[in-house]
Amino acid sequence: MEPAAAPIRPADGVARSDYWENVHDGKPEDGVSWWQSVPELSLGLVDETGLGRERSVIDVGAGWSTLVDHLVERGYTDLTAIDLSLTALNTVRDRVGEVPGQLVLDVADVLDFRPPRQFALWHDRAVFHFLTEEDERDDYRLSLEHCLEPGGFVVVATFGPDGPLTCSGLPIVRYTHAELAAEFPGYRLVSTSGEDHVTPWGTRQQFTAILLQRQG
Ligand SMILES: C[S@@+](CC[C@H](N)C(=O)[O-])C[C@H]1O[C@@H](n2cnc3c(N)ncnc32)[C@H](O)[C@@H]1O
Repeated sequence: MEPAAAPIRPADGVARSDYWENVHDGKPEDGVSWWQSVPELSLGLVDETGLGRERSVIDVGAGWSTLVDHLVERGYTDLTAIDLSLTALNTVRDRVGEVPGQLVLDVADVLDFRPPRQFALWHDRAVFHFLTEEDERDDYRLSLEHCLEPGGFVVVATFGPDGPLTCSGLPIVRYTHAELAAEFPGYRLVSTSGEDHVTPWGTRQQFTAILLQRQG
């Protein structure tokens, strides 16, 4: 599906979209620090859920991550990726091309995302950590609650306690596993993991990852 036109938002929301559009515009795919040709940690966590290939997966703040490419390759047929940057999603669309199943790419803000459906797996790598204010994290949790099927799984990966203090020039919150899990009360902690991500220019960034399951 064609990405929708960028929505009109209140002043700070518009600024946020503009910021992320500028981050992606005119850059090569490996011109961003978070680039991974194979998102091993994420793919391992998707496997760990044990969900069938027909179940729905959404990648929030997907950017031009290759996660959907690898999920298509593995036979997943119900995929959605959202991001504030149309350029990032266009890059995914051009790279992935036609897929056997459904791949929805939508320009949307995860903080007020209210699609008319739910998903079996919510994946977020390096988006939640930008939410430095409690009310932003509340908005994120409301979107998650709206979007996730009962019994659905959640992957959240952020910078870890020894990770960088900023990401893409913005302040972030660094989390231990316990701190990150505590942000999602009411979800069962299935497992904790992480990685030392090597940026395209060879520096290391510590990531904390958790896999959660919605109760009921
Ligand atoms: C650090 S990048 C991570 C991209 C991708 N998840 C990955 O691991 O390659 C953060 C991404 O989140 C997007 N983003 C930031 N805030 C967002 C929001 N409120 N709603 C949707 N996307 C957002 C940015 O445009 C950017 O693509």
